[in-house]
Amino acid sequence: MWSFKRLLALPTILGLLSSAYGAFFYPNTQASLLEHILVDTHGAHSSGFADAITPCTNYVSGNQSMGRTTAAQWIRVAFHDFVTADVASGTGGLDASIGFETLREENSGSAFNDSFTFFRPYVNPVISTADILALSVVMSVGNCGGAQIPFRAGRIDATGGGAFGVPAPETDIPTTLGFFSGAGFNQVDSIGLTACGHTLGSVHHGGFPTVVGPEAVSSDNLAGGIHFDTTVANFDPLVVHEYLNGTGQRGGPLVTSFNVSSRSDLRLYESDNNLTMIALGEQGTGFLNTCVGLLQRMIETVPKSIVLSDVVTPMEVKPINASLDFDSKGNLFFSGYIRILTPTPSSPPSAPAFLTIASTTPIPLTPEPAQGQSIFGTTAFYPFATKVIDAGSFAHFSVTGHGSHITFPVQTSAFVVPSLTSVSSTSTTILNFTVATRSRVAPTVKVQVPVGQQGTLGPAIKTFDNVAVNNTGRKAGYELWAGSVDVGALATGALSVAILDGEGKEVDVGFF
Ligand code: HEM
Ligand SMILES: *[C@@H]1O[C@H](CO)[C@@H](O)[C@H](O)[C@H]1NC(C)=O
Ligand SMILES: *[C@@H]1O[C@H](CO)[C@@H](O)[C@H](O)[C@H]1NC(C)=O
Ligand SMILES: *[C@@H]1O[C@H](CO)[C@@H](O)[C@H](O)[C@H]1NC(C)=O
Ligand SMILES: *[C@@H]1O[C@H](CO)[C@@H](O)[C@H](O)[C@H]1NC(C)=O
Ligand SMILES: *[C@@H]1O[C@H](CO)[C@@H](O)[C@H](O)[C@H]1NC(C)=O
Ligand SMILES: *[C@@H]1O[C@H](CO)[C@@H](O)[C@H](O)[C@H]1NC(C)=O
Ligand SMILES: *[C@@H]1O[C@H](CO)[C@@H](O)[C@H](O)[C@H]1NC(C)=O
Ligand SMILES: *[C@@H]1O[C@H](CO)[C@@H](O)[C@H](O)[C@H]1NC(C)=O
Repeated sequence: MWSFKRLLALPTILGLLSSAYGAFFYPNTQASLLEHILVDTHGAHSSGFADAITPCTNYVSGNQSMGRTTAAQWIRVAFHDFVTADVASGTGGLDASIGFETLREENSGSAFNDSFTFFRPYVNPVISTADILALSVVMSVGNCGGAQIPFRAGRIDATGGGAFGVPAPETDIPTTLGFFSGAGFNQVDSIGLTACGHTLGSVHHGGFPTVVGPEAVSSDNLAGGIHFDTTVANFDPLVVHEYLNGTGQRGGPLVTSFNVSSRSDLRLYESDNNLTMIALGEQGTGFLNTCVGLLQRMIETVPKSIVLSDVVTPMEVKPINASLDFDSKGNLFFSGYIRILTPTPSSPPSAPAFLTIASTTPIPLTPEPAQGQSIFGTTAFYPFATKVIDAGSFAHFSVTGHGSHITFPVQTSAFVVPSLTSVSSTSTTILNFTVATRSRVAPTVKVQVPVGQQGTLGPAIKTFDNVAVNNTGRKAGYELWAGSVDVGALATGALSVAILDGEGKEVDVGFF
């Protein structure tokens, strides 16, 4: 068996390899990568995404003294992207078109580019900006005291700005309800969704001087934010209660503004004589479930051509970066991690875990000392690296332990070789890759790269089809094929190298 230390040392020996995701993804590439962002939030192997909203008062895009909060910004950005949907014609919704619309008056404030700047490196050929935006809502709510919104993937990014129609503080009620109705939300839904959104965050003098006066600005509140409720960073029902009771923030600046024409929340909440707000108040913490329903509908409002995936759920046993590669002697080996998720508060059981590939002897796994923590529980990471003697009979591997035995399929007919693939980004991104095939026929390779585009901070995906490859020899029964791509721009996030079969179906994909 290969020692993991030696395996880790390989990239250094070979030079340039930066970050390579493994070749096998469970349940599929997109769900695996998004599940990583959702679940690996803190501690070992975290994706870093939740750092932006940890603690929930954090502002990741500037000075903490600004009086801005990232968790609240993300929800507002998603709302503005969504509310211009035209559900009757099946256009708009959560499609990241908001990125092109930041100069519109209806999208006043720094939240849009702040958020897209943070999202940018997470976008790749299988994770759209719109999916990240939707996931950001799920994570802001779920990590800041709210309930878990089921998350589905598969949104496709717009290539330009979309329709206008975001309600502003001075917008009259018929117009406001007309905007919501176009997006599929009736009056009760609109009041509920607004109360859900306005349990986090603030209205800022910087951006909304006609709502909040300059007196809100101070040395530790440079943008002059006034909170919607007393718990600015808790996703809780307090905004409803403070509005109804006239306590605390009394519903916030859009209720109490000095400027009567800017009291949009008061007008909206009173538009049915407070009946919806009273009903929400009576729900108590049930309000959180109401918000889950409304916010899920919001983030699942997508153009009609889009079919969203199954719900991305935390995996209890998850192979991570499970990949085939060659060692320096030309042996084929299989390496990666098994992540075991144990619901909080119990710590991961110490029972041994075993990995079995093909029909060889089970390999005992030992967890790394450092664990991960998230709202879903505690994660332990079990590295593995094992030589593959007979690739032809390696069709699956199993993880045994913790009371379960789970089998994962693999395919070994062709793979992108991590140690022979490298990316360099100076003035342009250059990818040199090698793929290995058991067949002697030159493979079809597709490379996709997220790159910057005009008018939005959301990346576009540049595709290189049928990338030319040259045979560079043989290893462990595989033909090796090398190719190179000069992207002609800088990659903004992970690029993908995919091997396609005769029908154009993906056989294997690597992320670098
Ligand atoms: C009539 C409808 C609405 C109007 C007129 C409205 C207006 C506003 C305004 C003017 C701000 C202040 C932004 C800033 O100063 O940075 C704000 C903040 C916010 N809005 Fe709304 N909003 C409405 C509905 C919604 C809905 C439906 C949601 C989400 C579901 C939402 C989520 C938020 C959040 C989270 C913030 C806080 C942002 C931050 O602290 O940076 N809003 N809203
Ligand atoms: C998987 O690979 C990616 C890219 O190299 C890396 O960032 C990540 O830390 C790896 N995951 C684990 C659990 O090692
Ligand atoms: C944040 O702003 C305050 C007030 O203007 C300033 O004193 C402080 O140096 C700033 N901090 C950083 C990290 O820029
Ligand atoms: C009040 O709001 C309206 C509408 O935005 C604006 O035209 C007016 O200038 C505001 N008044 C003050 C005193 O800010
Ligand atoms: C009003 O405040 C009281 C005391 O804090 C609380 O018990 C009650 O639930 C609140 N009522 C509403 C309708 O929010
Ligand atoms: C709605 O509730 C608010 C807050 O309690 C109150 O100020 C307002 O008068 C009520 N409006 C109506 C029409 O009942
Ligand atoms: C890619 O290969 C070319 C030609 O062998 C070489 O000049 C270049 O340094 C390589 N770049 C990277 C990023 O490996
Ligand atoms: C946001 O970023 C885009 C893309 O860089 C830029 O075109 C736009 O002007 C920015 N918007 C604001 C409000 O700064
Ligand atoms: C393949 O080989 C030809 C001939 O040696 C060379 O011109 C070409 O650059 C090579 N292509 C790649 C992708 O290495």
